[in-house]
Amino acid sequence: MAESDVATNDKVIIFDTTLRDGEQSAGAGLTPDEKMRIARQLQKLGVDVIEAGFAASSPGDFEAVQAIAREIKGPIIASLARAVPGDIDAAWEAIKDAERPRIHTFLSTSEIHMAHQMRKGAEDILGMAVDAVTRAKTHCDDVEFSPMDATRTDPEWLYKLVEAVIDAGATTVNIPDTVGYSNPEEFGALIKGVFDNVPNIDKATVSVHCHNDLGLAAANSLAAVENGARQVEGCINGLGERAGNASLEEVIMALETRNDHYGAKSDINTEEIGPSSRLVADLFGFAIQPNKAIVGQNAFRHGSGIHQDAYIKERTTFEIMEPESVGWRGEAIVMGKLSGRAGLRSRLGDLGYELSDEELTDLFPKYKILADQKREVTDFDLQALMSEQHRFSDTDLQYRFEGVKVEAGDMVTPTATVTVGTPEGESKTVTSKGTGPVDAVCKAIDQIVDQSCNLTEFAVASVTDGIDAIGEVTIRVEDSNGHIYAGRGGDTDIIVASAKAYINAINRMSVLGPDQTELTFSE
Ligand code: KIV
Ligand code: ZN
Repeated sequence: MAESDVATNDKVIIFDTTLRDGEQSAGAGLTPDEKMRIARQLQKLGVDVIEAGFAASSPGDFEAVQAIAREIKGPIIASLARAVPGDIDAAWEAIKDAERPRIHTFLSTSEIHMAHQMRKGAEDILGMAVDAVTRAKTHCDDVEFSPMDATRTDPEWLYKLVEAVIDAGATTVNIPDTVGYSNPEEFGALIKGVFDNVPNIDKATVSVHCHNDLGLAAANSLAAVENGARQVEGCINGLGERAGNASLEEVIMALETRNDHYGAKSDINTEEIGPSSRLVADLFGFAIQPNKAIVGQNAFRHGSGIHQDAYIKERTTFEIMEPESVGWRGEAIVMGKLSGRAGLRSRLGDLGYELSDEELTDLFPKYKILADQKREVTDFDLQALMSEQHRFSDTDLQYRFEGVKVEAGDMVTPTATVTVGTPEGESKTVTSKGTGPVDAVCKAIDQIVDQSCNLTEFAVASVTDGIDAIGEVTIRVEDSNGHIYAGRGGDTDIIVASAKAYINAINRMSVLGPDQTELTFSE
């Protein structure tokens, strides 16, 4: 093991699984280009490990893991693999060009999973686990093993299995609370039990991976750190299966803010937390709740007069972290209608967007329209503009929004005329009626695109305060196989934003649809 891979007493390794467990969130699904953008941001954030995907799960995931492994330098790039030879070989094939590759293999170990999911006895499971790690070791030095559903696994049997996989060469053993069943006291005791009862535990880093079914994922992860765990797995914004994983931003900032208590922390560039959170929310199409710790829009706002008064006298009366330390930039007005190309380029550079001359030429007229509509343009507006730009410059995507006109209100039958650019390079215009203007817009688009789907979710949020704010619309559609795809669109006119979001969802359905596979352990 390279020295930097070894957990030291005061460093907690941050293992980001937004692109794997996060992508397993129901209603999520990212294009390869979106995965790469998130991986680049995770690199800036300074995570130690990026779990880039599950290479054997689909050709699309394989390609995304491979592309990330080839481009991203610095963090370890991991691929998940079931404890079966085909998955382990596929994981290696995808990550072998990484500067620092890791194979992460897993297998269920609780009685309930062994009986019903695996339909195998403990000795068979032990053999599969050891064989999987042994095979992974033939490819790669850095091997992580996870006994799935560890918190419902008999501890004595768990210790025996952990010892065996370390003997086989696992360099990280991850103890997952797969179903979010544990609590801080019990989970801390389990981690202590691993240290006290596994004789070769000093040869591996102990990691934890907590799900949030009871809202305890971050607390359980921190209890594990108190008991010696030195890798924490989680997702940005707490995404993941069901109620999600531990929110990495919460764990990182708890370690940072209460270092007096934990005595260990991460090496994360915390100022990149805000931009990472916003990018992930945008690309996954899952808005952040306003009161979400660290990254919610109210996280650093003081509502009551008593608080405001004290805060103005002395910030620390009601603030335990500096908002800037997590990349909070507030809603500062930074640009206006007179700002030029150089000003726009420079401000976007501050926000982390480096634009080529061509990109700037393409963006500038859109910025001017926005500045005319809004007069004052904030950083949040610029981020929304950039999201919009990325959504429609993705070359994998097919249909393009060109224009919309609606007649609506309670004195007419809502009618929409929509113009869409097709993949064949044509421009098609269709008029349709609906129960409301958005329904009419979607029905018109349905007639243009060659896809059938049902709209299952429609939500509007405003990017900033004020009547002239950009409205961001999130739409989810379901295809005939029950798969769900998100689409987002932003504009100061929410009908325009809705049309863009619906087209974005349809485009993402056509890119992601053919790649949907359901893996089980019995294959
Ligand atoms: O929740 C879980 O147990 C997992 C494993 C694959 C680590 O995601
Ligand atoms: Zn998980």
